Amino acid sequence: MEQILLDKTRWGWWQSAVFYQIYPKSFQDTTGSGTGDLRGIISRLDYLQELGIDGIWMSPVCASPQVDNGYDISDYCAIDPIFGTMEDMDTLIAEAKKRGISIILDLVLNHCSSQHPWFLEAKKSRDNPYHDYFLWKDGDGSTPPNEMKACFGGPAWTYVPELGQYYFHQFAPEQPDLNWENPDMRAELYKSIRFWVDKGVEGFRLDVIDQIGKDPDLQVTGNGPKLHEFLRELSANAFPEVGLVTVGEAWGADVERAKLYSAPDCSELSMVFQFEHIGLDQQPGKEKWDLTKLYLPDLKRCMARWQNGLHGKGWNSLFLNNHDLPRIVSRWGNDKVYRVESAKMLATMLHGLEGTPYIFQGEELGMTNVRLKLEEYVDLEIHNLYAERTAKGYAQEDVMESIYARGRDNARTPMQWDDSPNAGFTTGTPWLPVNPNYRQINAKAELADPDSVFHYYQKLIRLRKTTPVISHGDFTLLAPEDEQVFAYIREDETSRLLVVCNFTDEEQKFDCPAGFENAQCLISNYPDAAPVLRPYEAYMLLAGK
Ligand code: GLC
Repeated sequence: MEQILLDKTRWGWWQSAVFYQIYPKSFQDTTGSGTGDLRGIISRLDYLQELGIDGIWMSPVCASPQVDNGYDISDYCAIDPIFGTMEDMDTLIAEAKKRGISIILDLVLNHCSSQHPWFLEAKKSRDNPYHDYFLWKDGDGSTPPNEMKACFGGPAWTYVPELGQYYFHQFAPEQPDLNWENPDMRAELYKSIRFWVDKGVEGFRLDVIDQIGKDPDLQVTGNGPKLHEFLRELSANAFPEVGLVTVGEAWGADVERAKLYSAPDCSELSMVFQFEHIGLDQQPGKEKWDLTKLYLPDLKRCMARWQNGLHGKGWNSLFLNNHDLPRIVSRWGNDKVYRVESAKMLATMLHGLEGTPYIFQGEELGMTNVRLKLEEYVDLEIHNLYAERTAKGYAQEDVMESIYARGRDNARTPMQWDDSPNAGFTTGTPWLPVNPNYRQINAKAELADPDSVFHYYQKLIRLRKTTPVISHGDFTLLAPEDEQVFAYIREDETSRLLVVCNFTDEEQKFDCPAGFENAQCLISNYPDAAPVLRPYEAYMLLAGK
């Protein structure tokens, strides 16, 4: 299929682009180590070009002790040897560029590794120049400075007896938080970002960026008072080129905050990853492990609020999957009888919206959640959860059910390339088991099948670039209270687009709005039209005005 290339020197090129997230550890191994590597990514660039994506967001590949799979960086300007060499990285950037694909790196700027030389220095003495790169509180080791908890469990403070001080960490103790109040620290971070821009990297995803303005004294982590001041300085110093794309992970972003992050004056970032839609099937006030069924009108209202709230005022990203989330087909679809239909339906719902879609590796194949034995899981969050909840008296089976439904390793099982041993991911022993369903669900089979989930995504990606109403039209939600069908209209000066998605495994009635009687069907997950919506049926109709 002929590739559609975007002019990436222009501000806003990413508004009609589609990105693809690679979790390098699980993408493709070329050495038999059992861990994916940069050469593996290079070897699969043709596959990604065939899919039609414009950029790859790679989860971290910088030097790291891998306590949190690379989100604990010990050198911002070096490649971790498990992934290869700097030369491999240079080759990857060049080979991707040849195919019209930009490389977007993951920047972890809120914290670093406890093995980073800055932290090793900081621990030496209170007057070491690097001491102030981190956040400290005096104490005697018996009582942490306050009650704050770390995201992966346990207190957010760890004691260093030699200093008589605690340091602050929102994640694991091996991930000390950086002190953004320190200008030298900020300048060093900007320098390392420019190192990658000079190498040809064309954008960045900024890990938990809403946390950099934290103030542990006030027990504030997200959306701290100086957050946007820091972001504007970061942007001015590290991202001056209009063509660079930047996306901030911001769990604490609401629509108003997102307007600041992604204002069209480029003063902060290109767009945000916000998560309001993603938590809708969580029990109110509880943790993500406490499950409840998605109530479709909640999702529709949430999506509509973001579509209308940011239209013309900011820019959103569109996603249902990433390396921290379970597989969406298992979560909001049906990964058994209607796996293919529901994977395509969920993609239709998302790819008809305004924003920049991100596809997480394997999503384009309809890859599913996995059920492993406790000891086979690698993610520290899963093991911490298991320990905490069983200690509190939760039944083991219930804790395992939560892990099967929500554990981060669901998304991290190796990419399923073909039906050979270990799905063609590695000739060695994979660092995390391959999902046993790889014999049925794999890229080779899907490439050979014109009706596969892969080819459906390929078509959706293409539609965004050829149908301007998809990237920039107004949004109107239809039937907000309908609990089964998610339907909306996008509209610009010349056309109207109708998107209809049946979220259930039963037939549903849907009254087509006026004006679409003779519309063109752009895409559909059933081969023909029918008077009712069939299980998980989805389509897009385009009408002139
Ligand atoms: C982000 C990452 C996640 C990581 C955490 C700490 O949420 O996506 O994988 O564990 O930040 O860096």
